[in-house]
Amino acid sequence: MDKQAIGVVGAGTMGQGIAQVLLTSGRQVKLYDVAETQLERAEGKIDQGLSRLVEKDKLSEEERSSALTRLDKTTSLEALSECEVIIEAAPEQSELKEKLFRDLSALNQDVILASNTSSLSLTRLAAVSEHPERVVGMHFFNPVPVLNLVEVIRAEQTSDATVVKVEALAGELGKTAVAIADSPGFAVNRLLVPMINEAAFLLQEGVASAEDIDQAIKLGAAHPMGPLALADLIGLDVCLSIMEVLQDGFGDPKYRPCPLLKRMVDAGYLGRKSGRGFHIYE
Ligand code: CAA
Repeated sequence: MDKQAIGVVGAGTMGQGIAQVLLTSGRQVKLYDVAETQLERAEGKIDQGLSRLVEKDKLSEEERSSALTRLDKTTSLEALSECEVIIEAAPEQSELKEKLFRDLSALNQDVILASNTSSLSLTRLAAVSEHPERVVGMHFFNPVPVLNLVEVIRAEQTSDATVVKVEALAGELGKTAVAIADSPGFAVNRLLVPMINEAAFLLQEGVASAEDIDQAIKLGAAHPMGPLALADLIGLDVCLSIMEVLQDGFGDPKYRPCPLLKRMVDAGYLGRKSGRGFHIYE
């Protein structure tokens, strides 16, 4: 069995970023997606990301081409059967993820299944898997090549050996792991997304313009970007669904989603990915 290969399920923004950092750390990557076109797009993005590192002298041309040869794209889940760890980064839909976890856990009895979910319960994903003790959360942050945190989330069923293994993998990728219990929003999103929601309330109430709200937090609290620009980066639909998970999970009115955020999602203003969110993108 090839112990070096890591599977990545889902070739969207997060899957691409995770695959890129695995490749630069020297790993073989099997990148799965249902859509061939998405896999092609992802390979192009990974190539762009690696080229950016070459331009900055952070990677040699040889390392870039060697990294790309270690990328295998596939539309067959069976191709991941010999992976040591599979990191799932599929869309945030519980039924889809549960089906994936059922199918992936049947592939190989030793595989560790790590989900990059930003808000769903790891304990529920573990419960549908054949080996729940080998299910864990590995929550990366966007842009993955830049942000050095991985939240390692422990489901009720996760074994110590599984946690040790994924903490070591995070370290191999140059990331710092923090240990988090399975709780709605984990730690980062429970802090970050209510801040974004509150920024939307500020805008809705006319307290300040979107530009001034962002400027205020950038200059007044030394954040790299303001909360509304950050919402545009994350996706307004993702922010809204995280607020809903917090509201459902805690039943506390302090987590009510801002009506403006809901209206913008209804209008299809989802942030950078749709060209318009709190700010306009070309
Ligand atoms: N991929 C790779 N590298 C990238 C990148 C990307 N998408 N975007 C920026 N970079 C690199 C740049 O090349 C640059 O590298 P060097 O320092 O080596 O030159 C560095 O990051 C800084 O980039 P820029 O100078 O272009 O721009 P910036 O200084 O404004 O930084 C940013 C951009 C990295 C996005 C920064 O604003 C930032 O960190 N913002 C906060 C992002 C954040 O909070 N993300 C978490 C979202 S929450 C989440 O992801 C979890 C969830 O579940 C929703």
